[in-house]
Amino acid sequence: MSFPITRLRRLRSTEALRSMIRETSLSVSDFVYPLFVVHGNKVKEEIKSMPGQYRMSVDVLVEECRKIYDMGIPSVMLFGIPEYKDALGTESYSDNGIVQQAIRELSSKVPGLLVVADVCLCEYTDHGHCGVIEHNDVNNDKTLDLLTKQSVSYAKAGVGMIAPSDMMDGRVEAIRQALDNNGFSNIPIMAYSAKYASGFYGPFREAADSAPQFGDRRSYQMDPANSNEAMREIELDIVEGADIIMVKPALSYLDIIRRAKDEFNLPIAAYNVSGEYSMVKAAAANGWIDGDRVMMESLLSIKRAGADIIISYFAPEVAALLK
Ligand code: PBG
Repeated sequence: MSFPITRLRRLRSTEALRSMIRETSLSVSDFVYPLFVVHGNKVKEEIKSMPGQYRMSVDVLVEECRKIYDMGIPSVMLFGIPEYKDALGTESYSDNGIVQQAIRELSSKVPGLLVVADVCLCEYTDHGHCGVIEHNDVNNDKTLDLLTKQSVSYAKAGVGMIAPSDMMDGRVEAIRQALDNNGFSNIPIMAYSAKYASGFYGPFREAADSAPQFGDRRSYQMDPANSNEAMREIELDIVEGADIIMVKPALSYLDIIRRAKDEFNLPIAAYNVSGEYSMVKAAAANGWIDGDRVMMESLLSIKRAGADIIISYFAPEVAALLK
């Protein structure tokens, strides 16, 4: 039936009708909140390119996590900024590393909160790349060994979930085996499976002081032009033992999220990355857009595309709005 019998505006005429036929909704339990942790005491420094986000010392982090857990956000993801960097990123697997300290404190002081730790070397290496450098490139297989050490060290500290973001081939299998061999077979892996070499990570690299000192990440992160390859990456991670797969960034890759949703039946996470956050903040600060409205609309689009989990710096603001 077509017009005038069919009039789609009929069901849009009141909020009651609109809410009845709404197909997608955001819930506070969809969210993971990413946080940056630094050494020291009472440190809370704002990240210039990410208004409203901070680098925090562990004591401040614990308070922040209490607050957001009370708001209903079930999970945080930790990124560490070490005191010293070296060629192999050795602080990443030191049992006294900054993320290890944060994990221990959070598991005793905010019980119930799911603490996810990003596994990667770029924050810990003096060259800023995600692995061991040889002949001006990242050596895949030598990097695996360091990633497994970092993962096991986080597991010993009491981490809830491991999230490898390095994009080395074979890392999910290597990490799964290392966790299992060390008695951590119950710790899930959320794999950054389709992680693109993206300009949208710009503000994060300032936040974590992790910009590569030479070259770029195109020899390990994915080409933004590719979609079939993303399905191969995801398939391999599933075979290697990933429990949750991730697409990153989110907003320029909604097609990849939807394809992953249609082709695989694992839970899908999407990372609404730093640049996606900062662009909304900058435009809103200029009065060019309604920041809250654009925030909710873009997060809803990520959910509608098929994401089950959204990793976003907006998490606390969304929680406040949903209340
Ligand atoms: C580490 C890592 C990055 C992000 C998450 N983990 C940076 C990168 O790959 O350069 C980016 C997150 C964001 O932009 O919010 N490899």
